[in-house]
Amino acid sequence: MGNCGAMEILRELKEKCETPNGKLRQIANAMKDEMQAGLASEGGSELKMLVSYVDNLPTGDECGVFYGLDVGGTNFRVLRVQLGGKEGRVVKQEFMEVSIPPNLMVGTSDQLFDFIADELAKFVGTEGEGEGEGEGEGGKKRELGFTFSFPVKQTSINSGTLMRWTKGFSIADAVGRDVVMELAKAMERKGLDMRVAALVNDTIGTLAAGKYLNVNVNDNDGGGDVVAAVILGTGTNAAYVERVDAIPKYAQEGIAQSEEMVINMEWGSFTSSHLPITEYDQALDAESLNPGDHVFEKIISGMYLGEIVRRVLCRMAEEAAFFGDVVPPKLKIPFILTTPEVSAMHHDSSPDLKVVANKLKDTLEISSTSLETRKAVIELCSIVATRGARLSAAAILGILKKLGRDKVIKEGDDEQKTTVIAVDGGLFEHYSEFRHSLETTLQQLLGKEVSSRVLIKHANDGSGIGAALLAASHSQYNHINI
Ligand code: GLC
Repeated sequence: MGNCGAMEILRELKEKCETPNGKLRQIANAMKDEMQAGLASEGGSELKMLVSYVDNLPTGDECGVFYGLDVGGTNFRVLRVQLGGKEGRVVKQEFMEVSIPPNLMVGTSDQLFDFIADELAKFVGTEGEGEGEGEGEGGKKRELGFTFSFPVKQTSINSGTLMRWTKGFSIADAVGRDVVMELAKAMERKGLDMRVAALVNDTIGTLAAGKYLNVNVNDNDGGGDVVAAVILGTGTNAAYVERVDAIPKYAQEGIAQSEEMVINMEWGSFTSSHLPITEYDQALDAESLNPGDHVFEKIISGMYLGEIVRRVLCRMAEEAAFFGDVVPPKLKIPFILTTPEVSAMHHDSSPDLKVVANKLKDTLEISSTSLETRKAVIELCSIVATRGARLSAAAILGILKKLGRDKVIKEGDDEQKTTVIAVDGGLFEHYSEFRHSLETTLQQLLGKEVSSRVLIKHANDGSGIGAALLAASHSQYNHINI
């Protein structure tokens, strides 16, 4: 009996989450229009379309030792790379990963930056002989590329104010402050002598790394164009290379020095009446730390997919006794079910769905589930993940449309190069069904001919390396005009 009602809840959800190709095309068009509106004027769209001040991407000529600091989720990474120019490329690379204590994600700016500076100082202390080129040699200061993956209004390549937090961070006194200054002050308090040469978003770091590594495209004419980078991880976002003359709000400032500019879209805050939003999403949003904000991110990214599944399971338990007469108490705890767990259940191919059974038992303390129940859980994971993946494909199509790369253009006799989109983030990397659905959806939307010229490429750990590369191309010692 109960399960009948539960299946009805699932059926309804499926209907509401449907994303037929026609709808995805409307979403892609809406994305393109919003991009245009966001570029036209400050506040012209929910899409911020932030100017990054990155107008040249690394070429491969960069030399020396540079640091990267990648802050944007529950873990942050510090890394040191030694660049050897065109021949050597990345000669050496070392990194350290540290998890941010949850209380620091909602504390004060000083607490967070002191913690980061402390860890950074420890890492710098591990510099080996000959690596300390940063300091000492000719009195050079160490240089750092700072990836800070939240909406930041940049004022130059190495300064910018935090507009607001996303992804579970909420540190009120940091909003409106220059995050480079905050870091610099903390580094000074720790006696760490380092200069922030570039402040970038993770999407921009990924784009820089994607370009630098030129992600091994086997193309007839020697490589593709890396035009955009997408992050599908805890949060989601994209950056791409835009012509300066297509950015009226920037051109008006009269400071453009080059023809191109990398734009951080902050596509997590995209909204459109075409988006398939359910009551579960609305409730999740209303109870989140940033209600009304980054709604697109909340239906797509890794921080939220598990939580959406939990909310649906909770309703199935409460209204249709899906797990028996008692609603499992653990099921009521927000964010207890993570996206990696959803992914593990979704990929369960064992005949008796053992992985699902174990996850339900270990995480939610729900034991002795029937095979039918487990099947329904997989169906639920699939509905939620597929919606997210297909919407991501539509968003990518929006960028391709904006760039005119959603069709094959013949320039004279030359066909344009393969379009490469560098993608990174745990959701894309580890959730195969998600990735597969994204890729096949994009192929469907583009059609055979065009999709054979568009490549989605995994740019592994691009955001940290990319920041170090951008520190190199914006080094005060090593200025290379690109
Ligand atoms: C959130 C942040 C954005 C970042 C993305 C991926 O959407 O606002 O800046 O790029 O997460 O980490």
